[in-house]
Amino acid sequence: MNAPATFPGLELLGTAVVVLDAELRVLYVNPPAESLLEVGARQLAGQRFPDLFAQARQFDAKLRHAIAKNWGFWDQAIDLERAGLAPLHLNCLATPAEHARARLVLELRSIDQRLRIEREERSLTQAVANRELIRNLAHEIKNPLGGLRGSAQLLERELDRPDLREYTQVIIKEADRLQLLMDRLLTPHRPPHIGPVNVHEVCERVRSLILAEFPAGVRIVRDYDTSLPEIEGDREQLIQAVLNIVRNAAQASAGAGGRAGEIVLRTRIARSVTIARRRHRLALELQVIDNGPGIPPELRERVFHPLVSGREGGTGLGLTLAQTFVQHHHGSIECDSQPGRTVFGIVLPLTREAANAGLKMTPGVR
Ligand SMILES: Nc1ncnc2c1ncn2[C@@H]1O[C@H](COP(=O)(O)OP(=O)(O)OP(=O)(O)O)[C@@H](O)[C@H]1O
Ligand SMILES: [Mg+2]
Repeated sequence: MNAPATFPGLELLGTAVVVLDAELRVLYVNPPAESLLEVGARQLAGQRFPDLFAQARQFDAKLRHAIAKNWGFWDQAIDLERAGLAPLHLNCLATPAEHARARLVLELRSIDQRLRIEREERSLTQAVANRELIRNLAHEIKNPLGGLRGSAQLLERELDRPDLREYTQVIIKEADRLQLLMDRLLTPHRPPHIGPVNVHEVCERVRSLILAEFPAGVRIVRDYDTSLPEIEGDREQLIQAVLNIVRNAAQASAGAGGRAGEIVLRTRIARSVTIARRRHRLALELQVIDNGPGIPPELRERVFHPLVSGREGGTGLGLTLAQTFVQHHHGSIECDSQPGRTVFGIVLPLTREAANAGLKMTPGVR
């Protein structure tokens, strides 16, 4: 087997880089390229790069031409098909090289990834603005509420006709309901309690809470990578975030379409993720997948916005809070929904120490 060559400087880049020899064989791939191509460096070493893709004759010719003419190129929006894997949609910058056996250096940028980063940044800015607005609004509503409730109570004592109490009780109950809503809107601002958190403990806690809430309605399948390291975080906040997502999944899928609702909790390691313009070498990914009818199309772009609900009696805060808590952990949350399959993915970066400890525990992972 060909051992991959090393190019230490390229290890540190956030861009996927592939180095080819004169025969277009892979000499080196850096970690972002491994994760983009979803193949390990050892497996790639020595393989003709264009042969990794189906129907890549044009790409092959272009690479050969670049080597023959010692000429670079910049190709935008190329589609590369791969057997058994999702197609790649890339921008590719090829630069000729003359270093030992290296003849061509390819920088690959996934267009989907760039779009995802842009979408995430927009959603982050939006979330911060929303939070500020909601917080101010909640404060403004909360203050007079106490006065309203107190006055209704005083009034009730002065009433000589008991049948009129029905009205003061409406005021008191509605004021209490609003108070509860305002408290929910303001909760994310308590200082976090940071400590080591095991994501599977979080999942198990949520699982037992949901099974108790929906005794016959849902089945929860665990698909855990148990070698994942602990993360530094606020356990209660993470439980609340995951609970809000899994509860939505249970509400949507329990008994929907006459089938039993099924929710999968999947944990995995993720490599080279960029969150809010910061690149993290390793992160932990938790996916909540349900087989319900999916998020109504008119809500899909807005589910994380506050007070957006498609559910009778829903306050539309569950996902806003989940997003806030995940962002407190420098993580990201996104969803992809179609009828029959809705996936909410939470990505939480791992600290260097946690990542190192985790790597020692994970056999076969570099
Ligand atoms: N897994 C899912 N499948 C289908 N629709 C979903 C799913 N998750 C969320 N939704 C939709 O997104 C909306 C917003 O969810 P969110 O949790 O923010 O608010 P809610 O559930 O309506 O109210 P609550 O504040 O009580 O959680 C839901 O009302 C529902 O229409
Ligand atoms: Mg909800």
